[in-house]
Amino acid sequence: MSIVNQGRIAIFTDDPGWHGKRLKQAFAARGYQAQYLSLTDCRIDLEQGIGGVVLPGFEQRLPDGVFVRGVPGGTLEQVILRLDFLHVLPAIGVPVYNPARAIEKSVDKAMTSLLLHQAGIPTPPTWVAESAAQARALLMREVARGHELVLKPLFGSQGAGLRRLAQPADLPPAEEYHNVYYLQRYVGAAAGGWEDYRVLVIGGVSRAAMTRKGVNWINNVAQGAACEAAPNDPELFRLAEAATRALDMDYAGVDLLRDRSGRLTVLEVNSIPAWRGLQSVVSGDIAGMLADDLIDRHLRQAARERCA
Ligand SMILES: Nc1ncnc2c1ncn2[C@@H]1O[C@H](COP(=O)(O)OP(=O)(O)O)[C@@H](O)[C@H]1O
Ligand SMILES: [Mg+2]
Repeated sequence: MSIVNQGRIAIFTDDPGWHGKRLKQAFAARGYQAQYLSLTDCRIDLEQGIGGVVLPGFEQRLPDGVFVRGVPGGTLEQVILRLDFLHVLPAIGVPVYNPARAIEKSVDKAMTSLLLHQAGIPTPPTWVAESAAQARALLMREVARGHELVLKPLFGSQGAGLRRLAQPADLPPAEEYHNVYYLQRYVGAAAGGWEDYRVLVIGGVSRAAMTRKGVNWINNVAQGAACEAAPNDPELFRLAEAATRALDMDYAGVDLLRDRSGRLTVLEVNSIPAWRGLQSVVSGDIAGMLADDLIDRHLRQAARERCA
């Protein structure tokens, strides 16, 4: 069966890999030709750009939609310029999945914690400060109450750079954490080893979930955790959906953990989640679900608006 050409998609990525390939195939199966593109190659040209924007490969016509698989780090100026493209594209008719604002909110763990808290979603007690003296005082107070703290890089991912602090002397110099201390009460592993959950919410609905069993307390797949299908727990799915709504995301990979008292708590919400581990334990095609959601809720909508 031949598929009618529906349009073109840009996948922003510097490392297409397995995920890029799966997405490209999923879009192709739905009639969309997807092309990889690095945000580092995009530029602003008010004279010749479309709406001032030049996306290599899309000089004559902008893509019908953009799927963001990566925003490379760099200087503050570089990152802001890269985000400028994601911000401006919807204004010139190109849906961006996930939107720039959602990516900004979730890359910044402090903002994620604030938004979860304000939405009344359970998340561990968290403190963020620049002052080492304040961080040390907090650590002393928490240790005196029998708690440990987890120190995380504000923009971290894949479990990199996380540290458990059990005594005031464990606090590293602020420079090691870009001069911001993001500190969270350690609420892990009641009994029976290390584990947490990853739920993928697409278009407001939990579509796939797994239990991650870590080799230590950091249960990221990138840190060697094993993946299993998650239990069919409505509360797990409900909380993941609420967290995704609180950050206003099209889709999200939500990390949840059962704390020592048995309550589910949301650790973080990822706007550019990997799904290779998750795909290995669920039957539905995740790339296909993502492509369907972008097409159904954004591209068809944009086309309807153009026709109206
Ligand atoms: N407050 C915490 N208590 C217990 N374990 C935690 C806590 N915060 C993080 N972890 C563990 O570390 C992992 C990585 O933390 P997370 O906040 O998701 O950062 P990252 O962006 O690096 O994935 C979590 O999946 C969880 O297993
Ligand atoms: Mg995580």
